[in-house]
This record gives sequence, C-alpha cells and structure tokens, in this order.
Amino acid sequence: MASEKKIKTDSKPKAKTAVSKKTKTSKIIEIKNLSKVYDVTEEIKVHALRDVDVDVYKSEFISIMGPSGSGKSTFMNVLGFLDTPTIGTYILDGFASRDLSDDQKAEIRNLKIGFVFQGFNLLARTTALENVEIPLFYRGGYNMKHAQQKAMEMLDLVGLADRAHHTPAELSGGQQQRVAIARALVNDPAIILADEPTGNLDTKTTNDILNLFSDLNNNIGITILIVTHEPDVADFTKRKIIFRDGRVVEDSSIKKRRKVGYNREIYV
Ligand SMILES: Nc1ncnc2c1ncn2[C@@H]1O[C@H](COP(=O)(O)OP(=O)(O)O)[C@@H](O)[C@H]1O
Ligand SMILES: [Mg+2]
Repeated sequence: MASEKKIKTDSKPKAKTAVSKKTKTSKIIEIKNLSKVYDVTEEIKVHALRDVDVDVYKSEFISIMGPSGSGKSTFMNVLGFLDTPTIGTYILDGFASRDLSDDQKAEIRNLKIGFVFQGFNLLARTTALENVEIPLFYRGGYNMKHAQQKAMEMLDLVGLADRAHHTPAELSGGQQQRVAIARALVNDPAIILADEPTGNLDTKTTNDILNLFSDLNNNIGITILIVTHEPDVADFTKRKIIFRDGRVVEDSSIKKRRKVGYNREIYV
C-alpha cells in the first residue's frame, strides 16, 4: 500500500481582489478559512464544511476522500462555483468567488473548469465529436471547422479519434467517460473536477481511466481533483485530502503511486 508524508502548509499572502493580476506563483486554488452552512430550517443548520484551508498548485493530481456525508460533494460544488461559501475565501486562478456575479461565475466555470461526472452526462443522439464541441460553442469565437478540429484533437488525446462519429449508446462506459474527459479538456481549463468518475465502471475500465488521468496530468500538466471513496483509486493520485464531518482531517502526499500496466500492477 502507499506510504505518505505530510505536506507543508503554504503561507503565501492571499489575493485581495476578484480579478487580481496573476502572480508568478503557480497557485491555482486558494481556500482559506472556508465554511459552508446549510440552513435546513431556522433551527436546523448543517455544517457541511468547517474551517477548510487548502492550496492547490498547477499540475497537482489530488484525490478527495472521506465517508458519506463528510462534505466532499459540497467541497467540489464550491470549487466548481456551483455553490457559494458561507464564510471564508475561495480563489480560482485569481478569481475570488465572493466578488463574482452569477453570470461571471458561469463564464469562469465554462472557461476554467472541466467537469467529469460519475454518469458521464453526455448528450444522447449526439456524436462523440459533437459532445466534445459543446463547451466551445458556449464559449463563442469558434467557427464550425475550427471547433471540429479542436474537438478532434481532444478525442485523439483520450485515444478515441476512431469513435468520433459514434453516439454514446454505441460506446462502452469507459469510452463514454473518455469522451466526457475530452469534453472537460476542450477549453484548456485550469482544473478538472471529477466526482466519482469511475463509480460506474468495472475494475479494468477504472484502471484505464485512472491511467488516462495520470497520463494527462504527466504529459500536459493538467491539474486534476478526483472525489472517490476507494483507496485503490486514490493511490493513482499524488496527494490525498481526507474530509470528516466537514473538516480536512488529513492532507498528505502519496509517495508510492499505483499504475496498472498490461496484465501487471506496478508502483511508481
Ligand atoms: N443542499 C443541502 N441542504 C442541506 N444539507 C445538505 C445539502 N447538501 C449537503 N448537505 C449536508 O451536508 C453534509 C455534507 O454533504 P456532502 O457534501 O454531500 O457529503 P459527501 O459528498 O461527502 O457525501 C451532509 O450532512 C449533507 O446531508
Ligand atoms: Mg457526495
């Protein structure tokens, strides 16, 4: 099993404004003193996140773990600008959540974040290529030919160029998740957020998808955060953050990472 060492906490000063100029640091995410409280009724409040401090640097590959109800999805929703913190600071690539309008959040979400879901969330009756093109059309500035070219490049990157004209129903689960990953990459995002991306896949396909994430992280330096409750999945990543009752109870680097080759398992 993987052994770990503690990561030193970072003490760099935080950015003050929403659209602060990018500094030389490659810090992509800054979370300080962040709490999220849901008001279920006037009396009942759920503390989904408590005093969370996390910094993420470019090209990190992180797993988010913890038991059910520990705050993983809330954390990812805050990171994805789908939910707002009650207290504290969240800055993504220089943009502070608290200073953004809903429209600005939607724009940043499309430009800076690639989402990958457990259920793939592809449009049915739409080819792999067209599914990957969609974020480009929301973004604007792409003509049909250029968008097709870019989407094709992404399908090639995930090893699916030869399935470009197939619809999701004509693809296996693993292939559909590859299309979803290509779609998540197409806008050259700052981060990929994946909530249980292998939850619907068998072991072999899970390993293929995690090897793909590893390769993308190594080869193009994309920053990836994966929510998982499976230690086997977390062992593919470089850093593990564990939540319990809304708090970060462990933040450690994974020294011996898993990589599964053809018919054999190796640790790197
Ligand atoms: N919209 C909501 N309203 C009220 N409580 C919520 C809401 N979303 C999540 N919670 C609560 O917040 C806590 C953390 O939930 P969640 O982030 O979904 O945990 P996990 O993804 O780790 O299972 C749980 O107690 C959950 O019931
Ligand atoms: Mg969850």
